[in-house]
Amino acid sequence: MSREDPKSAVCFPFKKEDVQVFTKNIKEVIKHPKVGAVICVGYEKNDCFKEIEATIPSIEHENSKKVHLMLQTRLGTKRRAGKGDGMNTALNFFISRTPYQTIHFYDADILTFSQDWITCAEKKLKDGFDVVRFFFPRVSTDAMITWNITKCGLASCWPHTILANVEQPLGGELAIKREVALRLANDSLVLNYSDWAVDTAYTLGFCRYKVPLYESYIEEGKLHKLYGKLTDLYTMLIECFSIIKENQSLKIDTAGMVYKKDAVANVPKAIREKKAFDLEGTIPLLRENWTKEEVELLDLFPTNIREGMLACSENSSRPDVRFISPEAWYEAYKILLANFLEAKKPWQELLFHLWLARVLNHTIHYAAKGYDYAMQSLYDMISYFEKEGGP
Ligand code: LAC
Repeated sequence: MSREDPKSAVCFPFKKEDVQVFTKNIKEVIKHPKVGAVICVGYEKNDCFKEIEATIPSIEHENSKKVHLMLQTRLGTKRRAGKGDGMNTALNFFISRTPYQTIHFYDADILTFSQDWITCAEKKLKDGFDVVRFFFPRVSTDAMITWNITKCGLASCWPHTILANVEQPLGGELAIKREVALRLANDSLVLNYSDWAVDTAYTLGFCRYKVPLYESYIEEGKLHKLYGKLTDLYTMLIECFSIIKENQSLKIDTAGMVYKKDAVANVPKAIREKKAFDLEGTIPLLRENWTKEEVELLDLFPTNIREGMLACSENSSRPDVRFISPEAWYEAYKILLANFLEAKKPWQELLFHLWLARVLNHTIHYAAKGYDYAMQSLYDMISYFEKEGGP
């Protein structure tokens, strides 16, 4: 290839998306001079897949570049087929069927996506970073798995490593150089996590390989559809906790690894004021679906947590979640790390109820006091997990 030739492929893993938004994003990336091809990996052959299939010939014709559309392959064997199989299918295709140096991943449903993201990542790759991840300002009650599960887990299991500082370890927007893609695609610790855990698996991978990592801040944010009741996140919660629990004893030392990130300059007003989920619809979930087995598991937890959760399970329309402060969450998290069994429904339900109580505590007692206060409390929680964590 000559110097001017495109260097990158862009992948959109997808399931059931707003076809207009998705098509707009494909058209946006394909026009970028650094992009040679687009890889769309669908979860199943649904209406969205067929509609995208129908739009591809004209996009290819207009841009004289390929848009590869495929169904994801079953690559993991241990866990549910999900987003992980989609991303890893794209990695394999990128390595074996394209000549490009970099693969970018973006969610298909981003309303605020622009070519600038690609330009920004390409610049850092040129500066010598092997992986560029994006992070965004987020609503103070959004990212409740990222904060309360993933960042807490990374900070307490691998304190004083880069993992304790990665801004958005679950983010699906990133650019990866070919050599790193090759390692990920041959790494059983990555391939096995074929579900929502894949983003964490990549994050752990980058730190295990110690590749130069940059985190770029995109101020306009990643606007996407907001959540309804937090039951929407049930499966993601279980899967994102499970990967931390399963890998908690993994030795990871990031000394000497090159890691830099943008400073957060500004958070737009719209993001400071928005709500991320349906609070009134979520509150009743705290007392739903309790079984005798789940209540018995509370015996493993310290008294304040056991009694607080029991009161929530029995209680009225307004549960009192004051007991589950960031410090109490640390105590609960330790017990979960030691005892949680993913295959057991009572454990899944208890993780969900505990996490709900923590999210409601944050929403009612911190987020209500303003954006900066809420965000600082989340950063302080992670520092606390890091300080208390370790073997
Ligand atoms: C998170 C998901 C739920 O980042 O958006 O926690």
